[in-house]
Amino acid sequence: MLKWKFFIVLKFVAIVRMASAKNCSTNKPPKVLIAEPSTPRSGISYLKEHGCQVIELEKATEDEVLKHIAEVDALLLAPPLKLTNKILDAAGCNMKTVATVSAGYNHIDIDELRKRGIKLGNTPRVLDAAVADHAVMLALAAARRLHEGRLKIENNEWKSDYQWMLGQDICNSTVGIIGLGNIGQAIAKRMKGFDIKQILYTGHREKPEGKELGAKFVSLDTLARDSDFVIISVPLTKETEGMCNEEFFSKMKKTSVFVNISRGQVVDQPALIKALKTNSIFAAGLDVMTPEPLPPDHEMLKLPNLVLTPHIGSATTNTRNEMSLLAAKNILKGLAGEEMIYPVV
Ligand SMILES: *[C@@H]1O[C@H](CO)[C@@H](O)[C@H](O)[C@H]1NC(C)=O
Ligand SMILES: *[C@@H]1O[C@H](CO)[C@@H](O)[C@H](O)[C@H]1NC(C)=O
Ligand SMILES: *[C@@H]1O[C@H](CO)[C@@H](O)[C@H](O)[C@H]1NC(C)=O
Repeated sequence: MLKWKFFIVLKFVAIVRMASAKNCSTNKPPKVLIAEPSTPRSGISYLKEHGCQVIELEKATEDEVLKHIAEVDALLLAPPLKLTNKILDAAGCNMKTVATVSAGYNHIDIDELRKRGIKLGNTPRVLDAAVADHAVMLALAAARRLHEGRLKIENNEWKSDYQWMLGQDICNSTVGIIGLGNIGQAIAKRMKGFDIKQILYTGHREKPEGKELGAKFVSLDTLARDSDFVIISVPLTKETEGMCNEEFFSKMKKTSVFVNISRGQVVDQPALIKALKTNSIFAAGLDVMTPEPLPPDHEMLKLPNLVLTPHIGSATTNTRNEMSLLAAKNILKGLAGEEMIYPVV
């Protein structure tokens, strides 16, 4: 008992020391560091209009962030810049607010933020429509061999034959969605417009939203076996890591199309490449891949039945403006000591 008390006192002394070693002056007006130079103006203007002083970096590197982090009250950043412990150690103790201009936050160690009592907000929802549109585009492009068709023209291989370049219908198809979150639901809504037969989904549990969409909750196995389109829209968790592996692809139909718009190692990429090469599935469309950026000589670029886009699912003018604005609003809430609009930590 006594030992414990002693330990707590020691801890307390250590924390007080740490705090006093840091620059604890709260700035007036509050200073916000904008780490990503391409952050749309919408959010930056909003911060200024609401009384913040902003510092904008010319390069989003750890070194650049380190030069300014000690003097600011909040940080606005975007992937791929990582919020490292080095940055957090260098931050003044008034730096308690972080916003990322992204829905995903793989670039941030949220346990570390929690430990340090720093708040983090992200920007989901405003990108759902753009990302869902993109997923549908990839599904259509892969099913109708968009990339391969373009190559045929370039290579002077255009034929006019009734059996040439046949693709897969979406009409009457079964669409399997892995992860029926907000984006998954937006995809389901869009796919229903194509006169499909059925929507299947899998995830932690059956959802009321699934019922509303007329979607059927099934196991991952059933989804692989019965779907003509498999669309992945799950976040990376311990459960989903490597979920779409060789076994999964082997269960898919030879005529089926695979779409990956989710971040993280949800899909075993070598297994997908193998499935495409051996035509054990029909085609695939990916907006996310490993590594990013993908080197121009990567073997995936040599697969005619693979449609690739360079991680631009949310890249529309309006969506990016909305994301920037939302990140700015999260910062203002955080600075005011209020709950952020989309709090992560
Ligand atoms: C603390 O922050 C203020 C305000 O930005 C700055 O002027 C001052 O130099 C900093 N002091 C230290 C010790 O970093
Ligand atoms: C869809 O199903 C209906 C009813 O079975 C059928 O008449 C139609 O030909 C099918 N369309 C396609 C494109 O498969
Ligand atoms: C799906 O995207 C994630 C994230 O970039 C990547 O790690 C994974 O390998 C991708 N899967 C495929 C098959 O490209």
